[in-house]
Amino acid sequence: MEIKKMYLFFKEELKKIKNINDFNNLQSKYLGKNSEIVNLLKNIKNLTNNEKKIYGKQIHELKNKIFVDLKLKKDYLNEKQINEKLKVSKIDISLPGIDFVTGKKNPLYIIEEEIYSILQGLGYKIIYGKEIDTDFNNFQLLNIPKNHPARNLNDTFYIDDNFLLRTHCTNTSASFLKNLKKKDYNNPVAIISIGNVYRRDTDDATHLHQFSQIDGLMWNKNISFANLKWTLKYFCKELFGEETKIRLRPSYFPFTKLSVEVDITCPICNFKGCNVCKKTGWIEVLGAGLLNPKVLELCEIDNNSGMNGLAFGIGIERIAMIKYGISNIRDFYNNDLKFLSQFKYF
Ligand code: DAH
Repeated sequence: MEIKKMYLFFKEELKKIKNINDFNNLQSKYLGKNSEIVNLLKNIKNLTNNEKKIYGKQIHELKNKIFVDLKLKKDYLNEKQINEKLKVSKIDISLPGIDFVTGKKNPLYIIEEEIYSILQGLGYKIIYGKEIDTDFNNFQLLNIPKNHPARNLNDTFYIDDNFLLRTHCTNTSASFLKNLKKKDYNNPVAIISIGNVYRRDTDDATHLHQFSQIDGLMWNKNISFANLKWTLKYFCKELFGEETKIRLRPSYFPFTKLSVEVDITCPICNFKGCNVCKKTGWIEVLGAGLLNPKVLELCEIDNNSGMNGLAFGIGIERIAMIKYGISNIRDFYNNDLKFLSQFKYF
């Protein structure tokens, strides 16, 4: 068939195409492997060189024209199909869209980061201790003797006579002191350790058999109670707000001397008295003290070096409960998305 005639034929056929199926058939008829154009090319071998050039060019142009026409037709058919679909299926734009589920930080992790960033500003560095530790590190180094109630089988998860699940992160501060080399005694250093601690408590709204703590230790020359007080005041104001006041109550920890329990003015009611502070205006937030010289002795550190440490221990769940007004400590570990997703904007 002659080239011009073929194009006219093609145009006629193209006009009649109404759907994608017919379109695909037409496309392979003209551009496919055994198409009309391939047939035309078969004639080329009978021509002279000059004729070959002209004929080849004409076929090439025909192919291009067909290609462009088909493309336009295909676009037209696609659009037509979309419009037809839109006519029958109306989109309800009032339906809510699909929510993107993104991960959120656990509230305990948010508090942990916040506390770390405050203490980091004061020069504290994180060290990681052992969750399974020896009775020696967890108790003996900290001047908690054999007959102390904390050593009771009913209070501690013992693995055997030697090993236990640590009951506090103070085990890490103790090992740190014990591992201080003699040549390092005189270098100031500040560390915190963060992690899980375990006690044989029955779970209820305020107790868990596993919770998390941050234990801090600042080691320097002539550390005094004034340093401790300043640190606690600064820390509480940074964490709970500038208007926060602190109250120190004398307390007892075997590893510190002086020992204090730290209260803050209730951030929920602003010292007016509410259920959280039991109408007293004060809430207990952490324990602290100056290292007991007995601990230095146990860690084989010379007590006359003039160096001493201030220490503090913070329960992360407790802080989160106060900051976010959470009344049930078990909420942190129940993996209830309704609870957890409330913290996505913190
Ligand atoms: N280890 C104590 C506890 O778990 C908390 C604590 C109190 C840690 C005073 C300290 C401290 O470092 O100085 O109850």
